Amino acid sequence: MTSLRLAVIGCGAAARACHLPALPHVPGARLTALVDPDLGHAEDALAVYREHGGTESPRLAATWHEARDMFDAAVVAVPHTAHARLTADLLENGKHVLLEKPMTTTPADAERLLKTAADHPDTLLAMAHPRRLFPAYAWVRRLIRSGALGTVRRVRWTEGHPYSWEPVTWSMFDRRLASGGVLTDTGSHVFDTLFWWLGDDMTLLDHQDDSLGGVESEGRTWLRFGGVDVIVELSRLRPLGTACVITGSEAEVRIGTDFPAGECTLTTHAGEELHRGDVDAVAPAQNEWEALFVEQLANFAEAGRTPGVAPYSPAEDGKRVVDLIDACYHGPARRAMPQPWTTHRTTSGA
Ligand SMILES: NC(=O)c1ccc[n+]([C@@H]2O[C@H](COP(=O)([O-])OP(=O)(O)OC[C@H]3O[C@@H](n4cnc5c(N)ncnc54)[C@H](O)[C@@H]3O)[C@@H](O)[C@H]2O)c1
Repeated sequence: MTSLRLAVIGCGAAARACHLPALPHVPGARLTALVDPDLGHAEDALAVYREHGGTESPRLAATWHEARDMFDAAVVAVPHTAHARLTADLLENGKHVLLEKPMTTTPADAERLLKTAADHPDTLLAMAHPRRLFPAYAWVRRLIRSGALGTVRRVRWTEGHPYSWEPVTWSMFDRRLASGGVLTDTGSHVFDTLFWWLGDDMTLLDHQDDSLGGVESEGRTWLRFGGVDVIVELSRLRPLGTACVITGSEAEVRIGTDFPAGECTLTTHAGEELHRGDVDAVAPAQNEWEALFVEQLANFAEAGRTPGVAPYSPAEDGKRVVDLIDACYHGPARRAMPQPWTTHRTTSGA
């Protein structure tokens, strides 16, 4: 079977840290185009691909139109606000798309994108949600599904550290590119995971963030998934740690939410420790960073080439995340986070 000709569109930090190191090792796909309006970014991305053993000679192009005959499928890793239009154009031109998170920055765009995908049934639109391939995340899902925790009652997700990702543009900070802050960025992963673990029956109870017009750095969200109470606390400023605790009627599981997860525990309410330490990777989960992205791309390539093969994260899963993020920002549940240092000014002039 011929391999899928793949373009990487958007050659910034995500392309270089996630997709390009993996690409030389993906069965069924080969890199044929690198697209970025800044050709220097495309050249830097090519260097990363070569460092990781890539031997193809992809076309470097400032727009995907220049390379349109060179590829069948694309990884879209451009700033958030560019996702919707670019992906729709690609689908309309018969290209499969693996789209970085979040799917779009508005529910209306996500709805339109789903419709475009439905109108072009020969093309595949899949979401990049690589945390589903983290061994600890997959383990929690198995524990929930098998009933090993009893009835799940609570999830507490805390993920915070001083911002350390290094985008090559202002894509995460300029509202015109990013749309939102920590919730749009980290929250897309967290919300996708919660839906993946707990299902679609979700109510947003309350949301606070610290945006005063720019992108938020802090977010606190209260949700209910079926009968499960969920609190998500995210920060780009404070070292909150990275952990998720899932409490069931019989047992409690705790994982690190970074990769690798580090020490994970499973303890019954009777005090018996059933697990402590690393979690084995059960396929398709992977215990090496590069292997995660090889697996994600290999699945995308196979799903693009083979009717009936499902992507790990279909487009519909992207839409529910976009809807939730939007409800947090703009719905009735949103409250400004108390910031007494800005809202209660002293009159002393100090
Ligand atoms: N999977 C993950 O864990 C992960 C991690 C980080 C970022 N991301 C996602 O990847 C995407 C990109 O983030 P990043 O950190 O690489 O940003 P970045 O700023 O580092 O890179 C964005 C790149 O896109 C280019 N670009 C802008 N508009 C374009 C267009 N219309 N066509 C082609 N290229 C264009 C920019 O020149 C830049 O090179 C975002 O959706 C982000 O949320 C995913």
